Amino acid sequence: ATPVIAHTRQDLHAARARLEGTVGVVMTMGALHEGHAELIRQAASAADHVVVTIFLNPLQFAAGEDLSRYPQTLESDVEICAREGVSLVFAPSPDVVYPDGEPGVRVSAGGLGDVLEGASRVGHFDGVLTVVAKMLHLMRPDLAFFGQKDAQQLLLIRRMVQDLDFPVEIVAVPTVREPDGLALSSRNTYLSPADREVAQCLSAALRAGEQHATAGPAAVRRAARDVLVREPLALVDYLVLVHPSTLEQVPEWYRGPALLAVAAKVGTTRLIDNLPLHLG
Ligand code: PAJ
Repeated sequence: ATPVIAHTRQDLHAARARLEGTVGVVMTMGALHEGHAELIRQAASAADHVVVTIFLNPLQFAAGEDLSRYPQTLESDVEICAREGVSLVFAPSPDVVYPDGEPGVRVSAGGLGDVLEGASRVGHFDGVLTVVAKMLHLMRPDLAFFGQKDAQQLLLIRRMVQDLDFPVEIVAVPTVREPDGLALSSRNTYLSPADREVAQCLSAALRAGEQHATAGPAAVRRAARDVLVREPLALVDYLVLVHPSTLEQVPEWYRGPALLAVAAKVGTTRLIDNLPLHLG
């Protein structure tokens, strides 16, 4: 069955009211790939209905970022949703989501929004949390599914739901990768064939780090860094080994859960990846 496609609030509310039982939501910016499909499948196995939102949220892009070239493929996105048994697709335009223009009142990510991705993308996470909050209010889902691929986003959404008492359960989905390890991303379509080869060093570095998880933080960082320095065409923004809930660098004596995260520019494209590890 093809999903109901809602573009307006009115259509959304009518279609949402007809959904009986539990609802799982998967929020996206479109250009759907196998990573999004995996989120949809996990939602379908956990809830009676899956709602997918497709909205390229201008609020989370800074001036000079890739908003204007971001791929838009609504037709094939809807095909993927149909194939995966999605009940409802909400694909609004910016004026439907922000009828009064950019909102003055926003959700603030706080300090966790200023580090890593937030350090190079000022205001990004306030924009993400604001639209996620709005979508949760519009959808009223029981469950909401987010990818580990965007670990800092996932952490901040969990914090928002906890700190502001949103009545929803957040479910994390492991990162879906290409056979060579590259994390799937809508932005991978920007990569030239040569860039695509270079891009593989991000996941390779994470795997190299992971292999030294028993030797402690310094060994993990060194192993990962050694892979990245051998690829001068990857311009590394950060490579960090941090605590998964504070995002602070873990000290050398630390043992326990950690997050190895990397961001690098390959060609004109900024790529991110991460791997949850257990040190010790
Ligand atoms: P987008 O980049 O389209 O990603 C939508 C969801 O898919 C996010 O939860 C993201 O973490 C997940 N995802 C992307 N690539 C993945 C992969 N390779 N494996 C597993 N999950 C993956 O993230 C956003 O959109 C936006 O910031 C959004 C949350 C929709 C707010 O605008």
